[in-house]
Amino acid sequence: MQFERKKRIAVLTSGGDAPGMNAAIRAVVRNSIWHGAEVVGVLRGYDGLLAGDFIPLDHKSVGGIILYGGTLLQTARCDKFFTSEGVKQGYDRLKAFGVDALVVIGGDGSFHGAEKLAALGMQVIGVPATIDKDMGGTFTTIGFDTACNTARECVRKLRDTASSHDRMFIVEVMGRNAGFLALETAVACGAEYVLVPEIETDFDELCERLRSSKSSGKNHAIVILAEGVMSASQLADKLRTMDCGYDPKITVLGHLQRGGSPTSYDVVLATRLADIAVEAIFRGETNVMTGLMHNEIITCPISDAWEKKAPLDMELFNMIEKLSR
Ligand code: ADP
Ligand code: F6P
Repeated sequence: MQFERKKRIAVLTSGGDAPGMNAAIRAVVRNSIWHGAEVVGVLRGYDGLLAGDFIPLDHKSVGGIILYGGTLLQTARCDKFFTSEGVKQGYDRLKAFGVDALVVIGGDGSFHGAEKLAALGMQVIGVPATIDKDMGGTFTTIGFDTACNTARECVRKLRDTASSHDRMFIVEVMGRNAGFLALETAVACGAEYVLVPEIETDFDELCERLRSSKSSGKNHAIVILAEGVMSASQLADKLRTMDCGYDPKITVLGHLQRGGSPTSYDVVLATRLADIAVEAIFRGETNVMTGLMHNEIITCPISDAWEKKAPLDMELFNMIEKLSR
């Protein structure tokens, strides 16, 4: 009599951690077990994959993690995975460990690595997670909503000092080369101005706006700066030399934006995206990612993550000018 071996599904998190990654891991584990599969976690992204750092995951291993930021599996950036030898070594590790399918939770960089594993024959599904929201194939990514809320809360506190002291604050937010996080934060906290890498800043106009809002009685200002434009200290120096009407103070939010308990939105999003990733495995799909489109979870080619990136929302950008005066 022959027994069929259980399907073995591996899951890893890669790139920058994003709040909601734990909820995604939990959904992968629990839905895989629901389907009768067994699950292994790969520690520290592709770094751990190359080292063969696998751990068994069961129902209990993911108990109580749903509301925590960071990632139970830890994450990393792995230079060796950029090479074909690195990818082959990763593939061999998965095969040697009896892995039938891999779920990669991460951003578009991590998905590039995933696509290369798929090209060697591994069944791979991507789950989009990054605070930057700089990915195609999905309306939004796990962690973005939490990061916006965190940044908004920080700005809310800064406003107290800004208005009490008639000051201007430059708040530098993350986002790598994209301005999504900066733009949404700016709208969500009613900032006076936002600088994003996608749109060239007219510094004369920025100074004029600051001066005219001051002369019309508004004595403080919040300027949100995406890190992809320049550093907050560079911007402060520039505005000082241009005499914008303020001596700018700077705050760099940095990794504060990546931590903390995920919002309900991110937990639900992560749970849905990861649950459908497992469904996709059992439908036999590979080299795909899950994504949120028109409030439905879909699967699409993993390359959509970098080939179909959405542009910045210009309507939102223009709204700031209209509403912040
Ligand atoms: P994210 O996944 O959040 O975009 P990174 O761009 O830092 O984060 O990528 C995470 C990791 O994914 C990298 O350190 C590397 O190991 C892997 N990776 C990124 N780009 C590629 C690529 N072109 N080929 C193979 N692996 C890649
Ligand atoms: O991709 C997420 C992100 O937080 C970016 O916004 C930022 O530029 C980068 O990672 C920072 O990376 P690290 O944590 O390695 O400094």
